[in-house]
Amino acid sequence: MAISIESLFDTEPSRNNALTVNVSALLFDFSKQVMSQQDVRSAQTKLAANGVRAAFARLAFGEIVNPTEGRAATHMRERDPAFASQHDPLRALADRIAARGIQTIVNVGIGGSDLGLRLADDVFHASGLAQRVALRFCTGLDPVEWQQAISGLDPNTTAFVLASKSFSTLETLTTGDRAKAWLGSLLNNHIYAVTSSPAKAIAYGVAAQNVVAFDESVGGRYSLWSAVNLPLRVAYGNTPVEALLQGAHAMDQAVLDDEHLSSPPFLAGLTRQFNRNTLKITNNVIVPYAWGLRRLAEYLQQLVMESNGKRVKLTEETIQTDPCSAFWGTVGTAAQHAYFQWLHQHPVGAAVEIIAVKPNNDVGSKALFENAVAQSRALAFGFEAETSDPLAQHKRTMGNRPNTFIGLPDVSPRSLGALLAHYEASVFIEAFINDINPFDQYGVEYGKLLAKQVSAAPNSSDFDASTKQLLAWGRG
Ligand code: F6P
Repeated sequence: MAISIESLFDTEPSRNNALTVNVSALLFDFSKQVMSQQDVRSAQTKLAANGVRAAFARLAFGEIVNPTEGRAATHMRERDPAFASQHDPLRALADRIAARGIQTIVNVGIGGSDLGLRLADDVFHASGLAQRVALRFCTGLDPVEWQQAISGLDPNTTAFVLASKSFSTLETLTTGDRAKAWLGSLLNNHIYAVTSSPAKAIAYGVAAQNVVAFDESVGGRYSLWSAVNLPLRVAYGNTPVEALLQGAHAMDQAVLDDEHLSSPPFLAGLTRQFNRNTLKITNNVIVPYAWGLRRLAEYLQQLVMESNGKRVKLTEETIQTDPCSAFWGTVGTAAQHAYFQWLHQHPVGAAVEIIAVKPNNDVGSKALFENAVAQSRALAFGFEAETSDPLAQHKRTMGNRPNTFIGLPDVSPRSLGALLAHYEASVFIEAFINDINPFDQYGVEYGKLLAKQVSAAPNSSDFDASTKQLLAWGRG
Protein backbone atom coordinates (compact mmCIF):
# COMPACT_ATOMS: atom_id res chain seq x y z
CA MET A 1 0.00 0.00 0.00
CA ALA A 2 1.48 3.34 -1.09
CA ILE A 3 2.04 6.07 1.42
CA SER A 4 -0.70 8.70 1.22
CA ILE A 5 -0.21 12.25 0.05
CA GLU A 6 -2.26 13.36 3.04
CA SER A 7 0.10 11.70 5.50
CA LEU A 8 3.09 13.20 3.67
CA PHE A 9 1.61 16.65 4.18
CA ASP A 10 1.07 15.81 7.88
CA THR A 11 4.54 14.48 8.52
CA GLU A 12 6.56 16.82 6.32
CA PRO A 13 5.91 20.41 7.36
CA SER A 14 8.33 21.80 4.77
CA ARG A 15 6.97 19.62 1.97
CA ASN A 16 5.08 22.23 -0.02
CA ASN A 17 7.97 24.69 0.15
CA ALA A 18 10.65 22.15 -0.58
CA LEU A 19 8.86 20.66 -3.58
CA THR A 20 7.76 23.91 -5.20
CA VAL A 21 10.18 25.48 -7.66
CA ASN A 22 9.95 28.72 -9.63
CA VAL A 23 11.77 29.16 -12.92
CA SER A 24 11.25 32.14 -15.21
CA ALA A 25 8.00 33.11 -13.47
CA LEU A 26 6.61 29.59 -13.93
CA LEU A 27 5.63 27.79 -10.73
CA PHE A 28 6.04 24.01 -10.44
CA ASP A 29 4.43 22.40 -7.38
CA PHE A 30 5.43 18.74 -6.96
CA SER A 31 4.21 18.50 -3.35
CA LYS A 32 1.12 16.48 -4.35
CA GLN A 33 3.26 13.69 -5.73
CA VAL A 34 3.50 10.51 -3.65
CA MET A 35 7.29 10.55 -3.18
CA SER A 36 8.39 11.48 0.31
CA GLN A 37 11.02 14.19 0.62
CA GLN A 38 13.44 11.49 1.69
CA ASP A 39 12.61 9.44 -1.44
CA VAL A 40 13.24 12.51 -3.57
CA ARG A 41 16.56 13.23 -1.86
CA SER A 42 17.73 9.63 -2.26
CA ALA A 43 16.78 9.61 -5.93
CA GLN A 44 18.58 12.93 -6.48
CA THR A 45 21.70 11.59 -4.77
CA LYS A 46 21.67 8.47 -6.93
CA LEU A 47 21.07 10.42 -10.11
CA ALA A 48 23.89 12.83 -9.27
CA ALA A 49 26.24 9.95 -8.51
CA ASN A 50 25.36 8.38 -11.85
CA GLY A 51 26.47 11.55 -13.63
CA VAL A 52 23.23 13.06 -14.88
CA ARG A 53 24.60 16.62 -14.85
CA ALA A 54 27.54 15.68 -17.01
CA ALA A 55 25.19 13.82 -19.36
CA PHE A 56 22.94 16.88 -19.66
CA ALA A 57 25.98 19.04 -20.33
CA ARG A 58 27.09 16.62 -23.07
CA LEU A 59 23.65 17.03 -24.64
CA ALA A 60 23.77 20.83 -24.35
CA PHE A 61 27.28 21.11 -25.74
CA GLY A 62 26.71 19.05 -28.85
CA GLU A 63 28.40 15.76 -28.08
CA ILE A 64 27.10 12.53 -29.63
CA VAL A 65 24.15 11.50 -27.48
CA ASN A 66 22.31 9.57 -30.17
CA PRO A 67 24.72 6.70 -30.81
CA THR A 68 22.39 4.59 -32.96
CA GLU A 69 22.36 7.40 -35.52
CA GLY A 70 25.84 8.67 -34.65
CA ARG A 71 24.56 12.17 -33.94
CA ALA A 72 24.47 14.94 -31.39
CA ALA A 73 21.06 16.39 -30.48
CA THR A 74 21.49 20.11 -30.94
CA HIS A 75 18.02 21.53 -30.34
CA MET A 76 19.29 23.50 -27.33
CA ARG A 77 21.84 25.24 -29.51
CA GLU A 78 19.01 26.44 -31.79
CA ARG A 79 17.73 28.59 -28.91
CA ASP A 80 21.04 29.55 -27.36
CA PRO A 81 21.53 33.33 -27.69
CA ALA A 82 25.25 32.70 -28.20
CA PHE A 83 24.28 31.24 -31.59
CA ALA A 84 21.49 33.72 -32.36
CA SER A 85 23.03 34.87 -35.64
CA GLN A 86 22.54 31.39 -37.11
CA HIS A 87 18.88 32.36 -37.64
CA ASP A 88 19.56 35.68 -39.42
CA PRO A 89 18.88 34.26 -42.92
CA LEU A 90 15.65 32.73 -41.61
CA ARG A 91 14.52 36.02 -40.12
CA ALA A 92 15.23 37.79 -43.40
CA LEU A 93 13.42 35.16 -45.44
CA ALA A 94 10.32 35.37 -43.21
CA ASP A 95 10.22 39.15 -43.69
CA ARG A 96 10.65 38.79 -47.46
CA ILE A 97 7.80 36.30 -47.74
CA ALA A 98 5.52 38.52 -45.67
CA ALA A 99 6.44 41.56 -47.75
CA ARG A 100 5.71 40.02 -51.14
CA GLY A 101 1.93 39.97 -50.95
CA ILE A 102 1.50 36.43 -49.64
CA GLN A 103 -1.68 36.43 -47.58
CA THR A 104 -1.74 32.81 -46.38
CA ILE A 105 1.05 30.42 -45.61
CA VAL A 106 0.20 26.73 -45.38
CA ASN A 107 2.53 24.50 -43.40
CA VAL A 108 2.64 20.98 -44.80
CA GLY A 109 4.28 18.57 -42.38
CA ILE A 110 3.60 15.86 -39.85
CA GLY A 111 4.79 14.90 -36.36
CA GLY A 112 7.60 17.19 -35.32
CA SER A 113 7.16 19.17 -38.52
CA ASP A 114 3.60 20.04 -37.54
CA LEU A 115 2.63 19.65 -33.88
CA GLY A 116 4.87 22.30 -32.32
CA LEU A 117 3.88 24.85 -34.93
CA ARG A 118 0.19 24.30 -34.28
CA LEU A 119 0.66 24.55 -30.54
CA ALA A 120 2.73 27.73 -30.87
CA ASP A 121 0.20 29.17 -33.34
CA ASP A 122 -2.57 28.61 -30.79
CA VAL A 123 -0.50 30.23 -28.04
CA PHE A 124 0.54 33.20 -30.16
CA HIS A 125 -3.07 33.66 -31.16
CA ALA A 126 -4.32 33.34 -27.58
CA SER A 127 -1.81 35.90 -26.41
CA GLY A 128 -3.37 38.43 -28.75
CA LEU A 129 -0.52 38.78 -31.23
CA ALA A 130 -1.37 40.39 -34.54
CA GLN A 131 -0.82 38.33 -37.68
CA ARG A 132 0.68 39.79 -40.82
CA VAL A 133 -0.01 36.61 -42.84
CA ALA A 134 -2.67 33.95 -42.14
CA LEU A 135 -1.38 30.51 -41.16
CA ARG A 136 -2.95 27.15 -42.04
CA PHE A 137 -1.86 23.55 -41.74
CA CYS A 138 -2.19 20.32 -43.66
CA THR A 139 -0.70 17.26 -41.98
CA GLY A 140 -2.31 14.11 -43.29
CA LEU A 141 -3.38 12.21 -46.38
CA ASP A 142 -7.11 12.71 -46.23
CA PRO A 143 -8.36 14.69 -49.25
CA VAL A 144 -10.94 16.32 -46.99
CA GLU A 145 -8.17 17.86 -44.93
CA TRP A 146 -6.47 19.14 -48.07
CA GLN A 147 -9.69 20.68 -49.36
CA GLN A 148 -10.24 22.40 -46.03
CA ALA A 149 -6.67 23.66 -45.96
CA ILE A 150 -7.02 25.44 -49.31
CA SER A 151 -10.66 26.36 -49.05
CA GLY A 152 -11.21 29.94 -50.16
CA LEU A 153 -7.52 30.52 -50.96
CA ASP A 154 -6.11 32.09 -54.11
CA PRO A 155 -2.92 30.47 -55.47
CA ASN A 156 -1.57 33.93 -56.29
CA THR A 157 -1.49 34.95 -52.63
CA THR A 158 -0.76 31.56 -51.04
CA ALA A 159 2.59 29.98 -50.23
CA PHE A 160 3.29 26.47 -48.95
CA VAL A 161 6.10 25.38 -46.67
CA LEU A 162 6.92 21.70 -47.05
CA ALA A 163 8.43 20.96 -43.66
CA SER A 164 10.14 17.60 -43.52
CA LYS A 165 13.42 16.77 -41.89
CA SER A 166 13.88 13.68 -44.07
CA PHE A 167 12.01 15.01 -47.11
CA SER A 168 10.78 11.49 -47.71
CA THR A 169 7.58 11.43 -45.65
CA LEU A 170 4.59 10.01 -47.51
CA GLU A 171 2.02 12.37 -46.02
CA THR A 172 4.03 15.53 -46.67
CA LEU A 173 5.02 14.60 -50.21
CA THR A 174 1.47 13.56 -51.10
CA THR A 175 0.21 16.97 -50.02
CA GLY A 176 3.21 18.54 -51.76
CA ASP A 177 2.05 16.90 -55.01
CA ARG A 178 -1.42 18.33 -54.46
CA ALA A 179 0.03 21.77 -53.80
CA LYS A 180 2.14 21.60 -56.95
CA ALA A 181 -0.89 20.71 -59.06
CA TRP A 182 -3.01 23.42 -57.40
CA LEU A 183 -0.35 26.10 -57.94
CA GLY A 184 0.30 25.17 -61.58
CA SER A 185 2.72 27.64 -63.15
CA LEU A 186 3.12 29.53 -59.85
CA LEU A 187 4.97 26.58 -58.36
CA ASN A 188 8.47 28.09 -58.41
CA ASN A 189 7.67 31.07 -56.31
CA HIS A 190 5.07 29.64 -53.98
CA ILE A 191 6.62 26.52 -52.49
CA TYR A 192 9.30 26.61 -49.81
CA ALA A 193 10.97 23.66 -48.14
CA VAL A 194 12.44 23.38 -44.64
CA THR A 195 14.51 20.24 -44.33
CA SER A 196 17.80 18.68 -43.39
CA SER A 197 17.86 16.94 -46.77
CA PRO A 198 18.02 19.97 -49.11
CA ALA A 199 19.14 17.94 -52.12
CA LYS A 200 15.96 15.86 -51.93
CA ALA A 201 13.82 19.01 -51.77
CA ILE A 202 15.51 20.42 -54.86
CA ALA A 203 15.16 17.08 -56.69
CA TYR A 204 11.47 17.15 -55.75
CA GLY A 205 11.09 20.47 -57.56
CA VAL A 206 11.43 23.15 -54.92
CA ALA A 207 13.50 26.07 -56.26
CA ALA A 208 16.96 26.01 -54.64
CA GLN A 209 16.60 29.57 -53.32
CA ASN A 210 13.40 28.52 -51.51
CA VAL A 211 15.00 25.64 -49.62
CA VAL A 212 15.99 26.30 -46.00
CA ALA A 213 18.22 23.68 -44.43
CA PHE A 214 18.52 22.81 -40.78
CA ASP A 215 21.02 20.56 -39.11
CA GLU A 216 20.54 16.80 -39.18
CA SER A 217 21.38 16.75 -35.49
CA VAL A 218 18.09 18.49 -34.65
CA GLY A 219 15.56 15.73 -34.03
CA GLY A 220 12.15 16.02 -35.70
CA ARG A 221 10.25 16.23 -32.40
CA TYR A 222 12.80 18.80 -31.16
CA SER A 223 12.68 20.94 -34.30
CA LEU A 224 10.27 23.73 -33.35
CA TRP A 225 13.36 25.73 -32.36
CA SER A 226 14.96 25.40 -35.79
CA ALA A 227 14.05 26.69 -39.27
CA VAL A 228 10.91 24.59 -38.91
CA ASN A 229 9.45 27.67 -37.20
CA LEU A 230 9.57 29.62 -40.50
CA PRO A 231 5.75 29.72 -40.90
CA LEU A 232 5.39 31.27 -37.41
CA ARG A 233 7.95 33.92 -38.32
CA VAL A 234 6.09 34.68 -41.55
CA ALA A 235 2.71 34.81 -39.84
CA TYR A 236 3.56 36.69 -36.63
CA GLY A 237 6.91 38.33 -37.35
CA ASN A 238 10.21 37.31 -35.83
CA THR A 239 9.78 38.91 -32.39
CA PRO A 240 7.44 36.36 -30.77
CA VAL A 241 9.53 33.49 -32.11
CA GLU A 242 12.59 35.03 -30.44
CA ALA A 243 10.60 35.19 -27.18
CA LEU A 244 9.71 31.51 -27.57
CA LEU A 245 13.41 30.67 -27.96
CA GLN A 246 14.38 32.88 -25.02
CA GLY A 247 11.86 31.18 -22.75
CA ALA A 248 13.24 27.78 -23.68
CA HIS A 249 16.82 28.94 -23.18
CA ALA A 250 16.01 30.25 -19.71
CA MET A 251 14.81 26.78 -18.72
CA ASP A 252 17.87 25.13 -20.32
CA GLN A 253 20.12 27.41 -18.32
CA ALA A 254 18.23 26.70 -15.09
CA VAL A 255 18.80 22.98 -15.61
CA LEU A 256 22.46 23.41 -16.52
CA ASP A 257 23.03 25.55 -13.41
CA ASP A 258 21.12 23.23 -11.10
CA GLU A 259 23.71 21.67 -8.80
CA HIS A 260 21.11 20.10 -6.53
CA LEU A 261 18.93 18.44 -9.18
CA SER A 262 15.95 20.31 -7.80
CA SER A 263 14.88 22.17 -10.94
CA PRO A 264 11.51 21.19 -12.42
CA PRO A 265 12.70 18.71 -15.08
CA PHE A 266 14.58 16.65 -12.48
CA LEU A 267 11.60 16.54 -10.14
CA ALA A 268 9.26 15.72 -13.03
CA GLY A 269 11.54 12.93 -14.28
CA LEU A 270 11.99 11.40 -10.84
CA THR A 271 8.33 11.53 -9.88
CA ARG A 272 7.13 10.07 -13.20
CA GLN A 273 9.65 7.27 -12.86
CA PHE A 274 8.42 6.62 -9.30
CA ASN A 275 4.78 6.67 -10.37
CA ARG A 276 5.37 4.06 -13.08
CA ASN A 277 7.78 1.76 -11.36
CA THR A 278 6.81 1.99 -7.70
CA LEU A 279 3.11 2.87 -7.85
CA LYS A 280 2.55 1.05 -11.18
CA ILE A 281 0.65 4.03 -12.57
CA THR A 282 1.37 4.04 -16.27
CA ASN A 283 -0.92 6.80 -17.52
CA ASN A 284 0.18 10.42 -17.28
CA VAL A 285 -2.64 12.81 -18.08
CA ILE A 286 -1.98 16.37 -19.18
CA VAL A 287 -4.74 18.87 -18.44
CA PRO A 288 -4.00 22.45 -19.48
CA TYR A 289 -6.57 24.92 -18.21
CA ALA A 290 -6.00 27.32 -21.11
CA TRP A 291 -7.57 27.25 -24.54
CA GLY A 292 -4.27 28.28 -26.14
CA LEU A 293 -2.68 25.10 -24.78
CA ARG A 294 -5.38 22.71 -25.94
CA ARG A 295 -2.93 20.83 -28.16
CA LEU A 296 -0.25 20.45 -25.50
CA ALA A 297 -0.93 16.77 -24.83
CA GLU A 298 -0.76 15.98 -28.54
CA TYR A 299 2.63 17.68 -28.76
CA LEU A 300 3.89 15.93 -25.63
CA GLN A 301 2.70 12.55 -26.89
CA GLN A 302 5.26 12.70 -29.65
CA LEU A 303 7.97 14.32 -27.55
CA VAL A 304 7.68 11.85 -24.70
CA MET A 305 6.43 8.63 -26.26
CA GLU A 306 8.50 8.71 -29.44
CA SER A 307 11.56 9.50 -27.32
CA ASN A 308 11.21 7.08 -24.44
CA GLY A 309 8.83 4.40 -25.71
CA LYS A 310 11.71 2.01 -26.19
CA ARG A 311 12.40 -1.68 -25.56
CA VAL A 312 16.16 -1.80 -25.13
CA LYS A 313 18.79 0.12 -23.27
CA LEU A 314 21.78 1.77 -24.93
CA THR A 315 23.60 -1.46 -24.13
CA GLU A 316 20.93 -3.42 -26.11
CA GLU A 317 19.78 -5.17 -22.94
CA THR A 318 16.01 -5.46 -22.62
CA ILE A 319 14.66 -2.72 -20.35
CA GLN A 320 13.33 -4.25 -17.13
CA THR A 321 11.75 -1.04 -15.78
CA ASP A 322 8.87 0.89 -17.32
CA PRO A 323 10.66 3.73 -19.15
CA CYS A 324 7.74 5.79 -20.39
CA SER A 325 4.24 6.77 -19.33
CA ALA A 326 1.34 6.92 -21.77
CA PHE A 327 0.77 10.64 -22.21
CA TRP A 328 -2.65 11.90 -23.11
CA GLY A 329 -5.05 14.63 -22.11
CA THR A 330 -7.30 17.45 -23.19
CA VAL A 331 -8.10 20.98 -22.20
CA GLY A 332 -9.69 21.77 -18.84
CA THR A 333 -12.43 22.20 -17.82
CA ALA A 334 -13.88 20.11 -20.66
CA ALA A 335 -11.74 17.20 -19.44
CA GLN A 336 -13.54 17.32 -16.08
CA HIS A 337 -16.80 16.57 -17.85
CA ALA A 338 -15.35 13.61 -19.74
CA TYR A 339 -12.80 11.36 -18.02
CA PHE A 340 -12.32 12.91 -14.58
CA GLN A 341 -14.83 10.35 -13.25
CA TRP A 342 -12.23 7.73 -14.20
CA LEU A 343 -9.40 9.79 -12.74
CA HIS A 344 -11.16 10.09 -9.39
CA GLN A 345 -12.64 6.61 -8.96
CA HIS A 346 -10.94 4.03 -11.19
CA PRO A 347 -9.01 1.63 -8.95
CA VAL A 348 -5.66 2.56 -10.54
CA GLY A 349 -6.27 5.93 -12.18
CA ALA A 350 -3.45 8.08 -13.47
CA ALA A 351 -0.86 10.64 -12.58
CA VAL A 352 -1.95 14.09 -13.66
CA GLU A 353 -0.11 17.22 -14.71
CA ILE A 354 -2.30 20.28 -14.35
CA ILE A 355 -1.20 23.40 -16.19
CA ALA A 356 -2.97 26.60 -15.20
CA VAL A 357 -2.52 30.28 -15.89
CA LYS A 358 -2.45 33.18 -13.43
CA PRO A 359 -5.97 34.56 -13.84
CA ASN A 360 -6.91 38.04 -14.93
CA ASN A 361 -10.16 39.81 -14.05
CA ASP A 362 -12.24 37.82 -16.49
CA VAL A 363 -14.80 35.63 -14.78
CA GLY A 364 -13.92 32.60 -16.91
CA SER A 365 -10.19 33.09 -16.41
CA LYS A 366 -10.67 33.06 -12.62
CA ALA A 367 -12.96 30.04 -12.76
CA LEU A 368 -10.44 28.15 -14.87
CA PHE A 369 -7.69 28.75 -12.35
CA GLU A 370 -9.91 27.88 -9.40
CA ASN A 371 -11.07 24.67 -11.06
CA ALA A 372 -7.45 23.70 -11.69
CA VAL A 373 -6.58 24.28 -8.03
CA ALA A 374 -9.69 22.44 -6.83
CA GLN A 375 -9.00 19.42 -9.04
CA SER A 376 -5.39 19.24 -7.92
CA ARG A 377 -6.60 19.12 -4.32
CA ALA A 378 -9.41 16.63 -5.03
CA LEU A 379 -7.06 14.29 -6.87
CA ALA A 380 -4.56 14.36 -4.01
CA PHE A 381 -6.81 14.24 -0.97
CA GLY A 382 -10.01 12.59 -2.19
CA PHE A 383 -13.49 12.93 -0.74
CA GLU A 384 -15.45 11.08 1.95
CA ALA A 385 -19.21 11.60 2.07
CA GLU A 386 -21.03 11.62 5.44
CA THR A 387 -21.39 8.05 6.72
CA SER A 388 -25.11 8.70 7.07
CA ASP A 389 -25.34 9.20 3.33
CA PRO A 390 -26.70 5.97 1.81
CA LEU A 391 -24.59 6.62 -1.30
CA ALA A 392 -21.41 7.32 0.64
CA GLN A 393 -19.46 4.52 -1.03
CA HIS A 394 -20.52 5.60 -4.51
CA LYS A 395 -19.55 9.18 -3.80
CA ARG A 396 -16.20 8.48 -2.21
CA THR A 397 -13.09 9.33 -4.21
CA MET A 398 -9.88 7.79 -2.95
CA GLY A 399 -7.48 10.62 -3.65
CA ASN A 400 -3.78 9.87 -3.65
CA ARG A 401 -3.58 10.55 -7.36
CA PRO A 402 -0.11 11.98 -7.80
CA ASN A 403 -0.36 15.32 -9.49
CA THR A 404 1.93 18.17 -10.41
CA PHE A 405 0.64 21.71 -10.69
CA ILE A 406 2.34 24.00 -13.19
CA GLY A 407 1.38 27.67 -12.96
CA LEU A 408 2.16 29.87 -15.95
CA PRO A 409 2.34 33.64 -15.54
CA ASP A 410 0.53 33.98 -18.88
CA VAL A 411 -0.14 32.24 -22.16
CA SER A 412 2.70 33.77 -24.13
CA PRO A 413 5.51 32.69 -26.45
CA ARG A 414 8.06 33.00 -23.65
CA SER A 415 6.07 30.88 -21.19
CA LEU A 416 5.47 28.26 -23.87
CA GLY A 417 9.19 28.09 -24.60
CA ALA A 418 10.03 27.52 -20.94
CA LEU A 419 7.27 24.94 -20.56
CA LEU A 420 8.34 22.90 -23.59
CA ALA A 421 12.02 23.05 -22.64
CA HIS A 422 11.01 21.76 -19.20
CA TYR A 423 9.33 18.75 -20.81
CA GLU A 424 12.25 18.14 -23.16
CA ALA A 425 14.74 18.11 -20.29
CA SER A 426 12.51 15.82 -18.21
CA VAL A 427 12.35 13.37 -21.15
CA PHE A 428 16.15 13.35 -21.28
CA ILE A 429 16.38 12.76 -17.52
CA GLU A 430 13.95 9.84 -17.71
CA ALA A 431 15.95 8.41 -20.60
CA PHE A 432 19.11 8.78 -18.52
CA ILE A 433 17.50 6.96 -15.58
CA ASN A 434 16.53 4.07 -17.86
CA ASP A 435 19.74 4.20 -19.88
CA ILE A 436 17.99 4.55 -23.22
CA ASN A 437 18.49 6.65 -26.32
CA PRO A 438 15.64 9.19 -26.51
CA PHE A 439 16.75 10.54 -29.89
CA ASP A 440 16.00 7.72 -32.33
CA GLN A 441 12.60 6.27 -33.34
CA TYR A 442 13.21 3.00 -35.12
CA GLY A 443 9.90 1.63 -33.85
CA VAL A 444 7.95 3.66 -36.40
CA GLU A 445 9.96 2.51 -39.40
CA TYR A 446 8.44 -0.93 -39.92
CA GLY A 447 4.93 0.51 -40.20
CA LYS A 448 6.10 2.84 -42.98
CA LEU A 449 7.78 -0.02 -44.83
CA LEU A 450 4.77 -2.27 -44.52
CA ALA A 451 2.45 0.46 -45.81
CA LYS A 452 4.59 0.58 -48.96
CA GLN A 453 4.51 -3.20 -49.31
CA VAL A 454 0.75 -3.29 -48.80
CA SER A 455 0.30 -0.55 -51.36
CA ALA A 456 2.30 -2.52 -53.95
CA ALA A 457 0.77 -5.92 -53.13
CA PRO A 458 -2.08 -7.59 -55.02
CA ASN A 459 -5.02 -8.90 -52.95
CA SER A 460 -3.77 -12.42 -53.47
CA SER A 461 -0.37 -11.75 -51.88
CA ASP A 462 1.04 -13.85 -49.13
CA PHE A 463 -0.24 -11.93 -46.10
CA ASP A 464 -2.13 -13.36 -43.14
CA ALA A 465 -5.84 -14.08 -43.63
CA SER A 466 -7.05 -10.94 -41.86
CA THR A 467 -4.82 -8.60 -43.89
CA LYS A 468 -5.91 -10.26 -47.16
CA GLN A 469 -9.55 -10.00 -46.20
CA LEU A 470 -9.24 -6.32 -45.31
CA LEU A 471 -7.48 -5.51 -48.57
CA ALA A 472 -10.12 -7.33 -50.57
CA TRP A 473 -12.83 -5.46 -48.66
CA GLY A 474 -11.23 -2.05 -49.20
CA ARG A 475 -10.36 -2.62 -52.81
CA GLY A 476 -13.49 -4.57 -53.74
O1 F6P B 1 7.51 8.79 -38.31
C1 F6P B 1 8.02 9.51 -37.27
C2 F6P B 1 8.71 10.75 -37.74
O2 F6P B 1 9.94 10.40 -38.29
C3 F6P B 1 8.87 11.77 -36.64
O3 F6P B 1 9.97 11.53 -35.85
C4 F6P B 1 8.94 13.04 -37.42
O4 F6P B 1 8.71 14.18 -36.62
C5 F6P B 1 7.86 12.80 -38.44
O5 F6P B 1 7.96 11.42 -38.75
C6 F6P B 1 7.99 13.62 -39.70
O6 F6P B 1 9.22 13.37 -40.31
P1 F6P B 1 9.82 14.37 -41.36
O7 F6P B 1 10.00 15.69 -40.69
O8 F6P B 1 11.11 13.76 -41.79
O9 F6P B 1 8.84 14.47 -42.50
